Amino acid sequence: MTLSAKNHLLFSLILIFSSPLLSAKPDGEQLYTTHCSACHGADGHGGVGVPLALPDFQYGVTNDYLKKSIRLGRPGRIMPAFTQLKDDEVNAIVKYIRSWAPGKPFKYSNKKINGNVAHGKQLYQKNCASCHGSKGEGGKGTGVTFSRPRDLPIIAPALNNPGFLSSAPDLMIKTVLMNGREGTPMLSYLKLGLSEKDIDDVVSYVRSFENNIVATKSNEKLEPIISYESPNSLEKTVESIERAAIGKNFRIIRKQYLNQGLVKAGQENKKQVMIYFCNFNLLNRALAIDPRIGLFLPCRITALEKDGKVLVMASNPLYMSRLFNNEKLTKLCQEMYDVYSDIVEESTF
Ligand code: HEC
Ligand code: HEC
Repeated sequence: MTLSAKNHLLFSLILIFSSPLLSAKPDGEQLYTTHCSACHGADGHGGVGVPLALPDFQYGVTNDYLKKSIRLGRPGRIMPAFTQLKDDEVNAIVKYIRSWAPGKPFKYSNKKINGNVAHGKQLYQKNCASCHGSKGEGGKGTGVTFSRPRDLPIIAPALNNPGFLSSAPDLMIKTVLMNGREGTPMLSYLKLGLSEKDIDDVVSYVRSFENNIVATKSNEKLEPIISYESPNSLEKTVESIERAAIGKNFRIIRKQYLNQGLVKAGQENKKQVMIYFCNFNLLNRALAIDPRIGLFLPCRITALEKDGKVLVMASNPLYMSRLFNNEKLTKLCQEMYDVYSDIVEESTF
């Protein structure tokens, strides 16, 4: 074993023995690493998620804001809602996040700001809409740019989002506008020439987004898996999936057992078959939109036999695409969803 492999093993053991399962107090750093670091970065400097370590962010938000943001997430954006964590686990994560910036965060009362919404709307359209969207829906994409060049180094978060609006009191929103957040594209509007009164008006307009939270597309219930039961044998079902895919101008790339390559040759589960297919026109259009589409391609559908039933299943591209908040990608995934549903339906007639 090499030294680094040994270190790795040692490190893993330390992780296991310091895991919250064994120790009484939840370990904030480890919980953060498990649940947050993939998006917000190991040191909080951002990634798919916005940076959390910047001083202006840290001083400008309360622990309550952090806790609510973790619990509620940002529905329809990529930030998940962590409903499964225990209270002391959420507290431990917040404590860990706080270790990045010494000093005390602001405290806010829940005082309501009663600005002029109509005037705030005008100011918003002029000063904010270009980044946060004309309805506060947030910039396209999420977090810190990584997959392709975009206009901003950090994508503007959604402000019309129920997760955000339920977490942020008026005075916090006001503080962001007054001070800006150094190190991000969000500037101080006091320095840019708005008066405090103007800022109050904008805050009240942002607050008024609450009235427009209706069941938007992103709140629609979407199933992660498209699944149908087939009346035919597994073998026949696989054949008809292939036929249906070819009928939709796809080329079959390969067919394999679900656990092929994971188990010794000959020991595969022959009752679980995965069919891969592709269409180069779709592939090229998809890659031009966003390289992350690679996650969905090539197209695949699984047929399996379980408890005497034959099921045909595909993961729902629409469900996944919602995470990326890119309209073009969503459109393409809608197309893929339609094709998948057709194929799955056709092959289970
Ligand atoms: C799948 C990626 C992802 C994961 C996992 C994730 N986040 Fe986020 N988070 C985001 C994105 C993206 C945003 C910005 C929301 C937007 O674009 O509207 C965000 C926003 C936030 C905000 C609000 C930031 C602000 O500027 O006000 C906080 C706080 C936060 N996340 C904390 C966490 C914590 C703590 C965890 C782990 C328990 C976590 N997030 C896990 C992607 C993620
Ligand atoms: C140049 C683009 C840009 C403009 C213009 C802009 N913002 Fe921002 N805004 C951002 C970015 C980027 C962030 C995230 C900063 C961070 O990572 O902490 C942000 C953060 C915020 C936040 C905190 C949100 C959160 O989840 O923490 C609020 C509130 C906000 N902006 C409101 C406004 C309003 C209101 C205006 C107009 C008066 C405005 N912004 C103008 C880019 C912009």
